[in-house]
Amino acid sequence: MFRSHTCGELRSSHIQTKVTLSGWVQKVRDKGFVVWVDLRDRYGITQLVFDEERSSDKLITEARKLGREFVIQVEGEVIERSSKNPQLNTGDIEILVSELQILNEALLPPFTIEDETDGGVELRMKYRYLDIRRNPIKNNLIFRSKVTMEVRKYLSEQGFIEVETPYLIKSTPEGARDFVVPSRMNAGQFYALPQSPQTFKQLLMVGGLDKYFQIVKCFRDEDLRADRQPEFTQIDCEMAFVEQEDILNAFEGLTRHLLKTIRGIETDKFPRLTYDDAMRTYGNDKPDIRFDMRFGELNAVSQHKDFQVFNSAELVVGIAVPGGASFTRKEIDALVDWVRRPQIGAKGMVYVKCNEDGSYKSSVDKFYDQDDLGKWAEATNAVPGDIICVLSGEAMSTRTQLSALRMEMAERLGLRNPSEFAPLWVVDFPLLEMDEETGDYHAMHHPFTSPKPGQLELLETDPGSVRANAYDLVLNGNEIGGGSIRIHDKKIQATMFRHLGFSEKEAKEQFGFLMDAFQYGAPPHGGIAFGLDRFVAILGGQETIRDFIAFPKNNSGRDVMIDAPARIDENQLKELSLKLDIQKRG
Ligand code: AMO
Repeated sequence: MFRSHTCGELRSSHIQTKVTLSGWVQKVRDKGFVVWVDLRDRYGITQLVFDEERSSDKLITEARKLGREFVIQVEGEVIERSSKNPQLNTGDIEILVSELQILNEALLPPFTIEDETDGGVELRMKYRYLDIRRNPIKNNLIFRSKVTMEVRKYLSEQGFIEVETPYLIKSTPEGARDFVVPSRMNAGQFYALPQSPQTFKQLLMVGGLDKYFQIVKCFRDEDLRADRQPEFTQIDCEMAFVEQEDILNAFEGLTRHLLKTIRGIETDKFPRLTYDDAMRTYGNDKPDIRFDMRFGELNAVSQHKDFQVFNSAELVVGIAVPGGASFTRKEIDALVDWVRRPQIGAKGMVYVKCNEDGSYKSSVDKFYDQDDLGKWAEATNAVPGDIICVLSGEAMSTRTQLSALRMEMAERLGLRNPSEFAPLWVVDFPLLEMDEETGDYHAMHHPFTSPKPGQLELLETDPGSVRANAYDLVLNGNEIGGGSIRIHDKKIQATMFRHLGFSEKEAKEQFGFLMDAFQYGAPPHGGIAFGLDRFVAILGGQETIRDFIAFPKNNSGRDVMIDAPARIDENQLKELSLKLDIQKRG
């Protein structure tokens, strides 16, 4: 028996009990006449004691040989500690060791295994197995497991069936590039790893399974960010015989259940915002509504004077930043520089300080009087003490710039409280999105999304205005889920492919299997997929998903621990009928 107890469970009630513990050496403190060792496992830390009065010389000598992260097993008696440590669950007791066995020695770890480590990100990733020993990462993984269990429990109770779909498939269009896998048995041919199980879950609906879910890996070859990994996990769901309202209710139920069981938070019915309103009010289709700073459009109250910058702008729009009237000139200049950085791209920023005495002081006093500025304050809901920040220009880009400023100000003012949760549904997304460069339309969600009833005809005349039965679930400014009601009619799906620029032949080649299936009694259906990594991170109060994934990739898509991706040898290439020039050059 390696252990009778864990390192996290012994209390004063165990005093005088003989115990066996196993774990890793966290720390050794040698005071000469007494040696203390902190023994750690997944459950906590227990202090071991070896002393000259009560332990044999041999045992003390052995204890002195222990190094950090040695794996040991000890037997001993639980005794009361003379100086208790209230920081530790086991801080009232220690183990007077009678037997010590080194199970495995360890090299000195390249960074400290402490909550606050001295290891940088790359080093921690290279030795991720050591990183996982640290509480922050370990606790995140335990937290993730708890969320996953709750998801399975809830959805199963609601009658959903978990079905596994294949990983070696054909391209599924979710807007990213595919990772491909060469086939040995079919020379010159490739599988694609799924960007999502989209088409398969639709086929399961044709198969009559009616309520499906899967906690599933998805693969997307796209640029990485804090909330993106090339392989990530979805809670993928689909239901048959449903309308949008049924889906929103079902998955609001799941989200509410998780907020309650995981964070103990009761939430009201989630607010809903149309895509157009979200863009108009927050400049963003995933607004963080934990704080206000809503956009006030100022065209009507700013384009009647001689200020050409505003007169020539498609949109003049501002936000009232709480407490900003006290910003110094230097602080405001820094803010102007901030919005002018290439990443944001604004040309400049006009500001109005709303003084406590009800007067206004602006950077455009030359053009606008107190009356004008009062109207700006009204439009942006500014109160005395605020500063109104105003941007202008082409509508879409100005909204995006002001949205970035809104988020930055909220961050600086501490308004993005990670233990507050503000979910909302964004609905009525455009069906199509225009590619700025080519002028072509592509599906904003994916090509299987159904247009809103009665809008199909608009596809011919004004494709950009067609709205879809598509929705996103947004939590604290992050898109944690997205889905749609699907097209289940072969003819409509064919029309859709045509509008997306697929020839009949291409559509048949790529999605013939789905169109065929639709001829055999496809029920009306729809679904949603949550980004599990994102959901878990946000529930855990963070926005970076990396530390909620056991073995994540770095920003260049590499696993630096196993050193992947890597070259493969000539024989393997030959077997796969592949020839790579790049292999020879390297
Ligand atoms: P979508 O592409 O919106 O929809 O993806 C669903 C959710 O998955 C998460 N997500 C990611 N998380 C981490 N890293 C990534 N690279 C990444 N990409 C997406 C997001 C997103 O909201 N098949 C459809 C769903 C449906 O229509 O039912 C789909 O995949 O949180």
